[in-house]
Amino acid sequence: MCGIVGYVGNRKSSEILLNGLSRLEYRGYDSAGIATMERNKIACIKTKGKVKSLIDLEKENSLNGAIGIAHTRWATHGKPSTENSHPHLDNSKKFAVVHNGIIENYKELKSFLQKNGYTFYSQTDTEIIPNLIAYYYKKMTPRFLEAVQLACNDLIGSFAIAVLSTYEPNKIIAVRKDSPLVIGKSNFETYICSDVLGILAYTKDFYILNDYEYAEISKDEIKFFNKTLQPIEKEIKSIEWDFSTAEKNGYDDFMLKEIYEQPISIRETIGSKLPIDAPSNLDEITFTRKYLSSLNKIFIIGCGTAMHAGLVAKAMFENLCNIPVEVDIASEFRYRNPIINEKTLAIFISQSGETADTIAALKLAKSKGAKTLAICNVIESTITREADYTIYTHAGPEIAVASTKAYTSQLILLAIIAIHFAEVLKSTDTETLNTFKNDILSISNKVSEILENIDILKEFAQDNCNIEHAFFIGRRMDYLVSLEGSLKLKEITYIHSEGYAAGELKHGPIALIENGINVITIITDQELMDKTLSNVHEVISRGARIFAITNLNFPHNDFDYFLNIPKTNELLSPILSVIPLQLISYYIAKEKGLDVDKPRNLAKSVTVE
Ligand code: AGP
Repeated sequence: MCGIVGYVGNRKSSEILLNGLSRLEYRGYDSAGIATMERNKIACIKTKGKVKSLIDLEKENSLNGAIGIAHTRWATHGKPSTENSHPHLDNSKKFAVVHNGIIENYKELKSFLQKNGYTFYSQTDTEIIPNLIAYYYKKMTPRFLEAVQLACNDLIGSFAIAVLSTYEPNKIIAVRKDSPLVIGKSNFETYICSDVLGILAYTKDFYILNDYEYAEISKDEIKFFNKTLQPIEKEIKSIEWDFSTAEKNGYDDFMLKEIYEQPISIRETIGSKLPIDAPSNLDEITFTRKYLSSLNKIFIIGCGTAMHAGLVAKAMFENLCNIPVEVDIASEFRYRNPIINEKTLAIFISQSGETADTIAALKLAKSKGAKTLAICNVIESTITREADYTIYTHAGPEIAVASTKAYTSQLILLAIIAIHFAEVLKSTDTETLNTFKNDILSISNKVSEILENIDILKEFAQDNCNIEHAFFIGRRMDYLVSLEGSLKLKEITYIHSEGYAAGELKHGPIALIENGINVITIITDQELMDKTLSNVHEVISRGARIFAITNLNFPHNDFDYFLNIPKTNELLSPILSVIPLQLISYYIAKEKGLDVDKPRNLAKSVTVE
């Protein structure tokens, strides 16, 4: 959840490190710190608060060294404070460490070190790492790399770390286990980062570290080693993302930019996968008819918005491919002994590809014999490297914590995969599939149409920014998108909200409906329209204020707000109906003066359990 940046080169490292931290700030943002090598001494400054506070602090302290490490923190062990911020130094101030992840056995290691005379100044798990390295350096080996390796062998949990030492002041050692870390390379300069976005401004060429791979980085060379410190070769990879897509490009916030990027990101996701009058084109997977017809179940797993995309995908696969689908939350799936075997295909959806629960769920499904398919946005992320197959969404970098364009791209990609399976299985007739393909190909323009017609959404936000509760209701696909609309409202406006199946209201939640409670209803299902409308009238008669979002015709004089959206295939309707829901949340958060991109208590990718 936190961010790591490191630099080895000829320039003033603090400038590059602070710039990198600013770009990573969406990952963790309660404190930040930086350590640079200044004439063979470690200089370290850190502070509670956002990276801006660290930038101000650096101006007072001016760090000039050409080698350094930096961190933004999202507290796990110990409250946000200067003492708990990274980098952490050992007692002798010879080693400095930045760390992402959680050390599960830190209490045992801490008491071992305390017995050996070490003192601790923070409540973090991380502070044991520099002291353990110092312990091994003193007791076992006068080699920096070996001391780091001995310490890492004792750590249980997850870690991506970068270490500086005055003993070998021209180097940084980096290593990871279950937490991402990449090494970026340009001429005579090397960058370390927990996310390519932090250093995309400097290079597009990266080495991706795997678990227990060590990088020993100096100005002239990078050496890689495996867990037992045998030298290994690593291949450099180029990341195609355009740096400008990670900038705000004139928008007030990344979230608004990403909402407005959806017509383009959807087109990018479709790419050349749906040629006209020809079968779908999915080179990434090679599932035969024999294999697909042997499946007794597809599992779809993810967290948050990604799991919501899975719920919609269930309807797509069941309708088009006639295969039963079970959708699960990764953190539940991994602990509930799910029934899986070689007749199960397990699909994992993740924007970041680094969500700890989703990674663990994937490993579990694999160990039980399922084939695994990752639907991911971030190239070369952990989930993509663990899965048997990966298909990228190609939505471009998503920076705002609230997921928007990743969701619509996931839905598009899952729809294409369902078409592909149906073609291989011959489970749906060609005419139906062709109509569905055309609906997918025309959806991007319909998204643009919605984005051009937002006055009513702004008006709703202005009128209702002070509400305390809201309900999102619908049936079938409209219910599934209600869950996503409700999640968006909660996470960026801090308004309590519930996504509910309209028909389920009278089984309990209707007790909460009273004068002035906002109910946002999505009605795009012709077959169930009357049923949903009667649920809406039940809440109107109890005083609810109604916002209806629909592509159908019905009398709506009793409704307080009303928005017409374009029609599409029912299975694709969440791709259109989610757009106004994203914007409602966005404009309410703006009305309330909140930090839309970085909501409180949340981080973009949840790399800890
Ligand atoms: C969505 O707005 C959330 N920020 C969150 O639910 C997110 O979708 C979830 O944490 C999963 O992340 P992933 O797609 O990167 O795995």
